[in-house]
Amino acid sequence: MNRYLIDFDTEELDKKYYDVVIVGGGIAGVYTALEIPEKYNIAILTKEGVDISSSVLAQGGIAVSLDKSDSPDIHMQDTLYAGAGLCDEESVRVLVDEAAENINLLCKYGVEFDRSPEDKRKLALTREGAHSKNRIIHAGDATGKEVCDKLIYNVTKRSNVTIYEKTWALDLLVKDGACHGLIAMEEETEKPIVFYADAVICATGGYGQLYYYTTNPVVATGDGAAFTFRAGGELEDLEFVQFHPTVLYHPENKSFLISEAVRGEGAILRNAKGERFMPNYHELAELAPRDVVSRCIFMEMKKTGTENVYLDITHEGKDYLEKRFPNIYSTLQKYGMDMSKDHIPVAPAEHYCMGGIKTNLDGETNIINYYACGEAACTGIHGANRLASNSLLEGIVFGRRIALKVSEMLMNEKNNQKHHARFFVKTERMNKGYNSKEAILSIKQTMTELVGIERTYDTLNEALQRVVEIKKEIADMNNTTFDDYVLQNMVLLAELVIKAAIMREESRGAHYRSDFKETKDEWKVHIVFSKDNIVREE
Ligand code: SIN
Repeated sequence: MNRYLIDFDTEELDKKYYDVVIVGGGIAGVYTALEIPEKYNIAILTKEGVDISSSVLAQGGIAVSLDKSDSPDIHMQDTLYAGAGLCDEESVRVLVDEAAENINLLCKYGVEFDRSPEDKRKLALTREGAHSKNRIIHAGDATGKEVCDKLIYNVTKRSNVTIYEKTWALDLLVKDGACHGLIAMEEETEKPIVFYADAVICATGGYGQLYYYTTNPVVATGDGAAFTFRAGGELEDLEFVQFHPTVLYHPENKSFLISEAVRGEGAILRNAKGERFMPNYHELAELAPRDVVSRCIFMEMKKTGTENVYLDITHEGKDYLEKRFPNIYSTLQKYGMDMSKDHIPVAPAEHYCMGGIKTNLDGETNIINYYACGEAACTGIHGANRLASNSLLEGIVFGRRIALKVSEMLMNEKNNQKHHARFFVKTERMNKGYNSKEAILSIKQTMTELVGIERTYDTLNEALQRVVEIKKEIADMNNTTFDDYVLQNMVLLAELVIKAAIMREESRGAHYRSDFKETKDEWKVHIVFSKDNIVREE
C-alpha cells in the first residue's frame, strides 16, 4: 500500500492556511464548525455539496431523555443493551448526559422539532427499536434535513468559515506523529491543493458504499477511515456494520429508508404469506434491537424463499400518515403505493458503520492535532449494534467536545510561530488503464453477497480472496481519476472489514457468524487495526 494516493511536492502546489480544517459537511462537521469560536479560520471540505451527506437523509430523529418518566440512566441502559456488551460505558455516559444541552443548542440554531399535540411547549417524543421509553425527537420524517438545513444556514453566515465543495480530501499530512493538514483535489481543476491547519477534524461519515444496497449517499466510501489508516491512525470495530431492517424493496428503488419510527407508530412486519412473524422471535417484536429485526427478516425471507417482507401500517388513516410521514408517504406514492392501504415491500440494507477511527472522549485520535467525529469515528458508544437515533446525537455531542478541545489547543498555541513543513512524495507508479468503476462494483457485489447479515468463514474467506486480487492489481497504479481514489479507499476498507469479521469467531450484535453462533466472553474485546498492528483491546 502506498502511503499517499498521489505523488506531490507541497512546495509546488497551491497552499491554503487555516486554524482548523474539517472534512465532511454532515451534522458532525457543520455543528463542530459552529461551536468553534469565530476568531478562528475554518475550512469545511465536502466531496460533493454540503447538502449531500448521510445526516441529511436521516429520517427518524434524535434520542434524548426529556420525558419525566425517562432519564439519562435509562437511555444509557437501552444503549448498552443494544450494543451487545461492547459499548464503552464512559462514552455512553457522556452521550446521554450531554444530550439535552446539545439539543437546546440545536434549537438555538433554529432547528424546529415537532411539538407535542397535547402541550405545544414540549417536543413530541416517539419510540424506535430497543428504546424502553418514548424519547425520539423528530421533524416529521425528515429530521436530518431539518437539522442540516438550519446548521448550514448558520454556517454560511459565518465569515470565519469557508466551504469548499467538490473538494476531495486525499491524504493527511503527518510528520513525527502530528497532523499538519491535508492534501486535497479540486474536482473542477483536477489539481491538488495543500490545506495546512493546526487541527484537522474528520467527519466524512461511514463506508456504507462498500455495499450494493445501502441507505447511504454515494459519498460514503470510507475515505476518512482510509486516509487515517494510511497516515498511521487506528481503526476500531470495523466488522460491525448495521443493516437497517426496513429499506424499500422496489424494482426502481432499493435504498430508500422506511424509518424505524413507522414501526414506532405501530407498523407490523409480515412475511410473503401475510403472517406477522416478529413475536415468534423476540419479546419486543417489531421494536427489538435493529440487528435482531434485520436477522429475523433475513431468516423469514430464507424460509419463504423471497427477497423481501412487508411493513403494514394500514391500521392508520391516510390523513395521519400523510402528516406524520410526509416524505415516506409521497415517495411511496411515486411508486404507486398508498401506505394507508398497501403493505410496503421492504428488505434489510446496509445503513450504518459502528466502527471507524478510534477516538477518546474528546474526539482525539492517536495522531496529534487530528480528531474524528460522527459516523467516521468510533467513540465506543455503539458497541456491536447502534441504538436507533443515537447517531445524530453522537455527531453533536462529540462534535462539540472536539470544538472545545480544539479551541483550548488553539488558545494555548496562539503565540506559537506556525510552521508548515514540506511534504515531498515521489514513487514509482504505473499507468494501467484499469477499469476502477467496474472494480468498485465488484467490491460492492462481493460485500453484499459474502459479508452481509450472515457470515461464515467460507463466505468471508472467499470475499477476502476477491478483494486481495483487486488490491494486487492496483497496488502500484498511478491514481488519476476520482474512481481510482475511491477504489483504493474501498479496497483498503473492505479488506480490513473482512479480516476483522474473520477474526471474530463469535456472533455479537450486527456481526452474525452462522459457524460461530454463540456470543463468547473471550470476544468481549475490540479489534483495532493500525498499519503495523492488529490488536484485541479490552
Ligand atoms: C430510521 O429512521 O429508522 C433511522 C434512524 C437511525 O438510523 O437511527
